[in-house]
Amino acid sequence: MRTAFLFLLPSAAFGRLLPQQFRLPAHVSGLDVDCPCDDASLCDVLSSQVDTELFGFGADNFADGPGFDWDAMTTIAWGSGADLICKAHSENVRVIAAASPPLTDNQTAIDEFIHSTIKSMQQNFYDGITFDWESPVDSPEDPLNTYYLDVVSQTTAALKAVNPDYQVSLCAAWSPFGIDGRWYDYVGLAAAVDFLYVMCYDVRSQIFDQCVASANSPINLCKKGIEEFNAAGISNDKLVLGMPWYGYRYECVNEDFDVESSSTCEIAQVPFRGVNCSDAAGSEIAFGSIRNIVRTYDAEVRRDPYMNVPFFNYVDSTSLKTYQIWYDDADSLQGHYDYVREQGLRGAGPYRFDQVDLDSDDGVEEAKEMFAALKTAAD
Ligand SMILES: *[C@@H]1O[C@H](CO)[C@@H](O)[C@H](O)[C@H]1NC(C)=O
Ligand SMILES: *[C@@H]1O[C@H](CO)[C@@H](O)[C@H](O)[C@H]1NC(C)=O
Repeated sequence: MRTAFLFLLPSAAFGRLLPQQFRLPAHVSGLDVDCPCDDASLCDVLSSQVDTELFGFGADNFADGPGFDWDAMTTIAWGSGADLICKAHSENVRVIAAASPPLTDNQTAIDEFIHSTIKSMQQNFYDGITFDWESPVDSPEDPLNTYYLDVVSQTTAALKAVNPDYQVSLCAAWSPFGIDGRWYDYVGLAAAVDFLYVMCYDVRSQIFDQCVASANSPINLCKKGIEEFNAAGISNDKLVLGMPWYGYRYECVNEDFDVESSSTCEIAQVPFRGVNCSDAAGSEIAFGSIRNIVRTYDAEVRRDPYMNVPFFNYVDSTSLKTYQIWYDDADSLQGHYDYVREQGLRGAGPYRFDQVDLDSDDGVEEAKEMFAALKTAAD
């Protein structure tokens, strides 16, 4: 182990590099941080460029064994811990942190946030950050939109001034047009950061048609969302298409529901942001856990012929409730990956990488299929 000496320059040295408003607090001087990796160069910020981002979240179950495919990842968001950093960097995979900025025009608070973000990058050997604010705003004119764009812009400029290799992204709804009240300034935000991670999942967060269980990430809606970003003026090289490696379990409340044969599963009306029916009626379950339910119950998995998305019914042996689960597998997500490749999007990747089951032989085989399909986005 070697000691990496990291140094935050006094604010004067940043005069020409940082936005005018940005001032590092005067008390900051040198930081001594031990590089936890055997090879201290593994603590450096990654500088390698990729043609296609394979960008996803989570690596809580990463392991050296089979199933977790480092060639199918370029960036892991929300990863943490020295073991992950050293391993990921040895595989040329970035690890980036979450960022929760203050939404205010109080420059002191913004400066404090930027300062603590840079410090966290340096102390934890991160390669960047991803913003993921998801609260509703009143309209495109809501002042919160201006605050958000301002703090994102300032933070990105400050990080790039410290090291141009820091990667900055921002999570976007599946369409730019007010999904769940998220009327953010996506054009400004896309220009301010390296790219948007378009979260094409939870698309039934507000159900305006029949209140029934259905797909979490139907490819036709993902395409429509990307086209709407394009229509708003955001090009494909700024867009990473995010897809779920998890599904939804819904309790079916229609009395005539037949677990063997029914396909229409009516769900309880659980409102979300002003709409009476939503996927909040269900619960999110990891892909690996869903496949284990299929095996435990020997459930018959069917596919919706229009969307090519798998679903199945079962009666839970404990609660005796009847459920329908909709999820995505390597086959249903292949359409997403093909689309990303054919349209030249910036990349693709899941929420989350670690929702595969690496504890069973079947789980490992299915994890390999999930990663193999993801890789085709970059072919
Ligand atoms: C601005 O933020 C700083 C730091 O969080 C805080 O101490 C100060 O009270 C805030 N100023 C106003 C006017 O709210
Ligand atoms: C939503 O549910 C409430 C309570 O049942 C009802 O009063 C309201 O009319 C419903 N709204 C819509 C748009 O259906």
